[in-house]
Amino acid sequence: MEHFLSINQLSQQQLLDLLTLAKQIKANPSEYRKALDGKSVVMLFEKPSLRTRVSFDIGINKLGGHCLYLDQQNGALGKREPVSDFAGNISCWADAIVARTFAHSTIEELAEHGTVPVINALSDLYHPCQGLADFLTLAEHFDDLSKVKLAYVGDGNNVTHSLMYGAALLGCTMTVICPPGHFPDGEVVLEAQRLAAQHGGELILTSDIDQIQAQDAIYADTWISMGDNASLEDIQAKFAPYQVNQALMTKANAKFFMHCLPAYRGIEVTEEVIDGEGSLILQQAENRMHAQNAVLVTLLS
Ligand code: CP
Ligand code: NVA
Repeated sequence: MEHFLSINQLSQQQLLDLLTLAKQIKANPSEYRKALDGKSVVMLFEKPSLRTRVSFDIGINKLGGHCLYLDQQNGALGKREPVSDFAGNISCWADAIVARTFAHSTIEELAEHGTVPVINALSDLYHPCQGLADFLTLAEHFDDLSKVKLAYVGDGNNVTHSLMYGAALLGCTMTVICPPGHFPDGEVVLEAQRLAAQHGGELILTSDIDQIQAQDAIYADTWISMGDNASLEDIQAKFAPYQVNQALMTKANAKFFMHCLPAYRGIEVTEEVIDGEGSLILQQAENRMHAQNAVLVTLLS
């Protein structure tokens, strides 16, 4: 593993190894106190963040490493100097780059022109750290991930893409339910279907929320992602039938609710569901750190 840009670049074994390592780090943090001893990680963020920024910063600290956060106060990435020069310069001092960007191509450029591992901390196309943490969370509730039935309801976006790849590699049954015109990217769907066929998984796409089948967990994300310019009024009208509420949870007999956060309570999910006993949101948030630390340890030590 040279970089961590997207889950489909992993083999099934590499994904399973990351999940195993994340569990080990979570259970025995003291054994990893020096895993990043003397290493420095630069974090470049073009978009806001709570969970990703804080979980990387504190996670790197727990592994004995040092991290430096760079936001856009010096101007947008690629404006003052090309992204390639940025990557080359940071590689002179740092041991890894964590980047949250608008365009996925910016992250690929950093990986191409830098000489250190690059970790995707969210792009317009993928959110692999989120996906990894989410499968770690599911693994804490289900011994055999290949038997898990996961439904994603809402806008087909970066989080959906990473979940689809993870589910496909792990052989899960994943149902993606989106309003017409808001399906995941067609190429990503084809790649996820290819991986699912290879690993005994199934990927179902539909707009028909009324036909939802039995699920172990239902996952929601915001209906308007960072960088989208859609009007909330238009989106709310179109997405209203896709709200995750108690009626939907009951209909699907779903025990768990998942959300990457930030959530808009009363919009994509009701308070009753997100604050209910089946909600895994804080476990997912905590697992961001353990999952990312597994990636850092794998790439850097
Ligand atoms: N889930 C997630 O990535 O949250 P942040 O945008 O706060 O980092
Ligand atoms: N799809 C959301 C995820 C936020 C963590 C976004 O890109 O804004």
